[in-house]
Formats: sequence, C-alpha cells, structure tokens
Amino acid sequence: MTDTNHLERRLTQQLEQFSREGTYKHLNYIDSPQAARVQMEGRGEVIILSSNNYLGFSNHPEIVAAGKAGLDKFGAGTASVRFICGTHTIHRELEEAAARLVGTEAALSFVSCWNANEALPATLLTERDIVLSDQLNHASIIDAIRLGKSITKCQSGVYRHGDFEELDRKLAEAGDREVKLVVSDGVFSMEGTIVDLPRLLEVCRRHGALLWLDDSHATGVLGPHGRGTAEHFGLLGQVDIITSTLGKALGGAAGGFVASSKALCDYLTQRARPQLFSNALPATVAASALASIRLLEREPERVGRLAENARYFRERLVTLGFRPLPGDTPIVPVILGETAAAIRMSELLLDRGVFVTGFGYPVVPQGEARVRCQISAAHTREDLDAALDAFAQVGRELELI
Ligand SMILES: Cc1ncc(COP(=O)(O)O)c(C=O)c1O
Repeated sequence: MTDTNHLERRLTQQLEQFSREGTYKHLNYIDSPQAARVQMEGRGEVIILSSNNYLGFSNHPEIVAAGKAGLDKFGAGTASVRFICGTHTIHRELEEAAARLVGTEAALSFVSCWNANEALPATLLTERDIVLSDQLNHASIIDAIRLGKSITKCQSGVYRHGDFEELDRKLAEAGDREVKLVVSDGVFSMEGTIVDLPRLLEVCRRHGALLWLDDSHATGVLGPHGRGTAEHFGLLGQVDIITSTLGKALGGAAGGFVASSKALCDYLTQRARPQLFSNALPATVAASALASIRLLEREPERVGRLAENARYFRERLVTLGFRPLPGDTPIVPVILGETAAAIRMSELLLDRGVFVTGFGYPVVPQGEARVRCQISAAHTREDLDAALDAFAQVGRELELI
C-alpha cells in the first residue's frame, strides 16, 4: 500500500463524512459577471446575497474597461517577482491610491490580503516581540501568526473577542517585549460588527503597542467616504498598520495591500517573503483596483447607498420575525445553531432563487452556525424585497418565524 493510496482513502472517508453530516460544500457555478443578480448554472437567474461586491464594482463598466486597458498596456504576465524583473508603474499608482484612501504614508500591494497578512508577523517580528490577536480574527491572521511564530520565535497570545480588559492585562504582562503588536479585524466578517477602535487604540497607546487592523470588510464600506474603520470613528491616520483586500468592495477581483509608514512598507519590499518569492498582482487586476479607488473617491455617495440598503434589509428581516445579530454593517448574520440547519436554510433559499451561504464549524464556533447575508449598493429595492419574500417563505417552512 503506497502513501498516496492511504491519503486518498482517508480523504475519501472524510469527504463521505462531510456529506453524511450535511456539511459538504457544493460549489455553485455562475455563468455571468458578479452582480446583484447572476446566472447560476442549472438554476437560471439568482439574487446574490452572499458576495463581497459591496459597492457593485465587480462588473462596473469603468472598472472592467480599466482592466482591459491595463491588459493592453502591460500585457498578461508580470513575468517574475518585482525586484527581479521590474515593477509596473500601475503598481506604484495603485499603492499611492491605496495609501491615500486609508490615510497612511505608504502602501504595498500583494496578490491577496491573505498574503499581505501572512507577510507581517514573519517579516516584522523577532524573538523579543509579541503579537496579541482578537479571538475572532480572520483565518489569514491566525495562520499569519502561526507562521510568524515558527519563523521568528516571537511570542503570541489571543484575547477574548472585544475583551479589552483582557488585552490590557496581557499587554501589561508583556511589558518586557520590545515590540508589542495588537491585531484586530476592523469589521468581523462572520458577525458583521465593528471593532471599538477608540477603546482599542487607547489600550494600545497606554502600553506602547502598535495596532494592526485588517480592514478587508471595512474598506469601501465604513466611513462617509468608504475609507474604513478609522474614518468611521474619525481616527484617520491613527492606526499603525492597515491591511485590506482589493477582492471585496474595491472591484472584487483579487489582491491586497499593507498600508503603513514608508519605512515599514519599504522594509516589507526588502524582506517579506511573499514579495520576494512570488509574482506581483497582475497588471490588469491592479488597473481595475486603481479604477475602483478612483471611482469611490469620485462617488462616495455609493457608500451611503450601501448603508441604506443594509439598514432596510436588516429592519425588514426583524419585522418578519428573524433575529439577525445586531450591527451597522452590510453583513447581516442569522444564527441557526447546527451547521446542517444553516446549510438546509441556504438550500431552501436557493430553491427560491436567493443565494445565501450557510456557515458552520469550524468557520464559526460549534452551535453557532448561521446564514450570512451580505448586502450591496447594487441591490435594488426589488432585489431586496424578493430576497425578503424568500426568507419569509423559508422561515415559515422551517418554523423559525
Ligand atoms: C478579514 C479578512 N482578511 C483577509 C481576507 C483575505 O482576503 P483575500 O481574499 O484578499 O486574500 C478576508 C477574506 O475573506 C477577510 O475577510
């Protein structure tokens, strides 16, 4: 028996178990651009209520055109990593725009925010430092810290979600550490809640700790101009390190960035392994992302439309008798308990032409499985009302309302 056969058998058994438990994820294939309504293979037109296309930029004509122009001007490939074969000027323009948007001195792009996060602890920390992380931070932050620890031998710790007293204690205990880095999501993507940035910053400042905020669900979403969590709280320029994605509100293609001081971004350019050993963001994607930032800067009212849509959907859901988690973001989760219940609800919604994903363990804690609705500025009232009708039907069928 070879190792390969052993692995195949183990994986097949586990896949069968996922199916038995009702937690197997089926991929739904879409044959049209991402938009409020899409063409789903085998289903026809479906309202999407589970995408990060918050501003409707995924298929905005100006952003698609910018991508095509980027492709024509810079070609398809980046051909190597940036310091070896050269950096396209579009990357510099994008990085300047990203820094301007989130209010930092500089920014550095990566092929994903996952990559940007992964670069930070492993590149910046040493065995004399510590990183403390909110318990509900995104998987990319958790893995970034695991990697950072194993490479640099830095210390790490986790504080209970939003428990700044615990963070305060842990920072006090870490008084001897040279660099104390605290990391939090700006918007917690499974809860739809916003971090209490003023309190978090106050605790960090009191202990001389640096704050790293992952604003992937806040960039383009929070603040009057969509500049993120810091703008939402009137604290632009106060966060030491911001990471964010280009794969959600800002065009939805792919890519991410670190925004911080010039020195920090320059150091990452010199030393971050995902920069040194992996190709840059394709120029066409960089061009679309740049066009997204420019469009957002020109038409910030889209952010207000998004907030208004989210408020409408949340209120109507409550009126129907659902109890979504409270919050002020376009992420509206409805807790259902067991994973299979969340998956069942999402299947019934899809049968009625509404695509909402069910999330269970290990993405969320055991017993807290949920369907998570994500609202977009691209949704019309008609889209939202049709989705709410489907929620009402399924809610009655499952005796949830
Ligand atoms: C908070 C957060 N950080 C990072 C990421 C990863 O972003 P990307 O798709 O650019 O790798 C996500 C995506 O789900 C996220 O929600």
